[in-house]
Amino acid sequence: MLSKSSLKYFTLINKIKYQINKSIRNEKNYFNLILKGVIPRPQYAFGLFFTASLASQLNIKKFSVIEFGCWQGEGLMDLEHYSEEIEKIFKIKIDIYGFEGGEGLPPPKDFKDRIYQFSQGEMKESLEKIKKNLSRSNLIIGKFKETVPKFMESNFAPIGCIFNDADYYSSTSDSFNILNDQNKLMPKVLLYFDDLNFSSKMTGELGAINNFNKLNDLKIEEIPELAETMSLYWKKWSFLAKRFFLLHNFQHNLYNQRYQNPFYKNLP
Ligand SMILES: C[S@@+](CC[C@H](N)C(=O)[O-])C[C@H]1O[C@@H](n2cnc3c(N)ncnc32)[C@H](O)[C@@H]1O
Repeated sequence: MLSKSSLKYFTLINKIKYQINKSIRNEKNYFNLILKGVIPRPQYAFGLFFTASLASQLNIKKFSVIEFGCWQGEGLMDLEHYSEEIEKIFKIKIDIYGFEGGEGLPPPKDFKDRIYQFSQGEMKESLEKIKKNLSRSNLIIGKFKETVPKFMESNFAPIGCIFNDADYYSSTSDSFNILNDQNKLMPKVLLYFDDLNFSSKMTGELGAINNFNKLNDLKIEEIPELAETMSLYWKKWSFLAKRFFLLHNFQHNLYNQRYQNPFYKNLP
C-alpha cells in the first residue's frame, strides 16, 4: 500500500493511467510511469528501477535498498509498494532496510547540521506506529553511529540503492559508514539525498558528501545529464533527479561488465 502522503498526490487521472498500465505492464511501460511522474514519489521508484535493471543485467539476484531517516515510515511504505512491482518485472529480490532512531532529530553537533533549519526532537514518531504500517521492511532502530557498524558485521545482499533523509551533516556522515566495505556494495550504488536545497558545500548532506570524497578513494559523484534527460519528460525531474548521485565501485569484479543503461532500453 502506498503511503498517505503519496496517495494525497496521486491524482485521479494518474490513478487511471496506473491502472491501465497494470494490464500491459512490462519494463518499458513501467519506466514510462516513473519518467512521466505518473506515480507518486517517483524518485523512490526510479532508484529501485534503475538498480533492479542494473542488477538483473549483471545477474545479481538480490540487492539491498536502504532508507536512512524513516520518521513515520512513509518512505519505507512506498519502497515496499514499488519493490513488489519491480521485483516482478525484473524477476529479482529486493531487501528493504530502514535505519531510524525513533527520537526525532538528535542534538545538532555544530553549524554544519544547519541549525537555522533543523532542531533536536523534530519528527519524533512512535516506533510502534511506524511498524504497524510496514509489512516487509527491516527496521533497524537506534542512532546510525551505533547501528551502522553493527549492521556491517551481518550478512546482507549487496547494497544497490540508498535514500538519505536524515537532514543533518553529522547523521549523513554517520550513515556513510555503510559504504566502508566495498565487497558489500554493488558495482554502482545509487544514492538519493532529500535535503540538498539551499545548503552550502560545507554543510548538510552536500557537506557530508564532500567530506566523504575527501577522505575516501571511492567517490560519491554527480550524475552527468541525468536531470537534463529526465526533465524532458517531466519538469520536476529538473531538481528531483539532481538529488541522485552515484558511487562508482571501480574495483568490483562486475564494474566493467557491459550493461544497457535503462534509459537507452526504455525511453518513450
Ligand atoms: C526527514 S525525517 C525522515 C522522513 C522519511 N524519510 C519520509 O520520507 O517520510 C528524518 C528522520 O531521521 C531520523 N534521524 C536523523 N538523524 C538520525 C541519526 N543520527 N540516527 C538515527 N535517526 C536519525 C529522525 O529521527 C527523523 O525521523
